Amino acid sequence: MPRGDDERRRTRIDELDRYQVVGTLGVGGMGVVFDAVDTLTRRPVALKFSLATPQSAHAAKQRLDREAEAMIRSNDRRVCTVYDVADCDGWPCIAMERLDGRTLQAKLTAGPLDTFDVIDVAAEIAGALAAVHRAGLVHQDIKPANVFVTTDGHIKLLDFGLAVPCGSLPAGPGWGCKTGRPSVLGTTNYISPERILRLPADPRSDLFSLGAVVYEMAAGRPPFAARSTADALMNVLESDPPAIGRLQSATARALDRLARTLLEKDPDLRCQSAAEVRKALLALRKGRSHSAGRVTFRRSIHTRSTRHDSVDATCAHVH
Ligand SMILES: Nc1ncnc2c1ncn2[C@@H]1O[C@H](COP(=O)(O)OP(=O)(O)OP(=O)(O)O)[C@@H](O)[C@H]1O
Ligand SMILES: [Mg+2]
Repeated sequence: MPRGDDERRRTRIDELDRYQVVGTLGVGGMGVVFDAVDTLTRRPVALKFSLATPQSAHAAKQRLDREAEAMIRSNDRRVCTVYDVADCDGWPCIAMERLDGRTLQAKLTAGPLDTFDVIDVAAEIAGALAAVHRAGLVHQDIKPANVFVTTDGHIKLLDFGLAVPCGSLPAGPGWGCKTGRPSVLGTTNYISPERILRLPADPRSDLFSLGAVVYEMAAGRPPFAARSTADALMNVLESDPPAIGRLQSATARALDRLARTLLEKDPDLRCQSAAEVRKALLALRKGRSHSAGRVTFRRSIHTRSTRHDSVDATCAHVH
């Protein structure tokens, strides 16, 4: 039975009133996240809106639906929990758990982290990524601004706006596209070579971005930073990250080697799974190095001509 105008208006007001906005948590390239209270359950929530005009509201709703679905499918304690995809007075938004703490990006403004803190944060990100990949997804936007460090010292992965099913081709509206326009997406400092080359989505691409985050946590600067976006992209494709100045302990040196393994241009030369990376990090944490055994990996893409066609490699060159 069609609802009357009064009832329809009341429902909209109820939905809008359900969330009382009390502040702003963050503003990104494509959206804004508000601090709010769910008046029905009385719990604090974060409301993520996608910037949209009334004309693009439908596309924005689709994007947020897919983002929420990816977060729900990942189903891991280290991924921010989605409560609902709501409609606030015609504006779609994701209602999710409101986290206390700050982003890893904010934390890094104070400088590089202690080696064991790097290991702890990295192991949690790797654990979250293992769950994302098990769900058949690639996050595609791993960077310090999308990693939240809670006040109790754990991490929560945010911002699944670029997440896509493994094997998806880049471009096109929908999954993995924040703007509806095909483009190289993701942040220059953390994007993998294969994403620049617009190859199908591969979980190992997230491992490259994790390597960039690990490097930045240890060095205090991203590995491929440059004056211009074009130079940064060239660095990602062609350059090795500069040496980290102070690597005083054996653990710090082992962590550096692990980061460099993750930052291999060729995905076949990296650690092959997030679970493997986590295992290597936990072994480092316990003060012993981890070897996944010697495995021969073959290169599948050629971003540099100077490397051999196949190499002996272990996941974690952490000895
Ligand atoms: N659940 C949350 N609790 C607390 N703060 C949050 C939460 N979600 C997001 N934030 C804050 O809002 C910022 C932006 O969130 P997010 O990365 O999801 O959106 P975005 O970067 O605007 O999205 P996009 O990259 O799609 O433009 C985060 O860096 C963080 O500071
Ligand atoms: Mg973000």
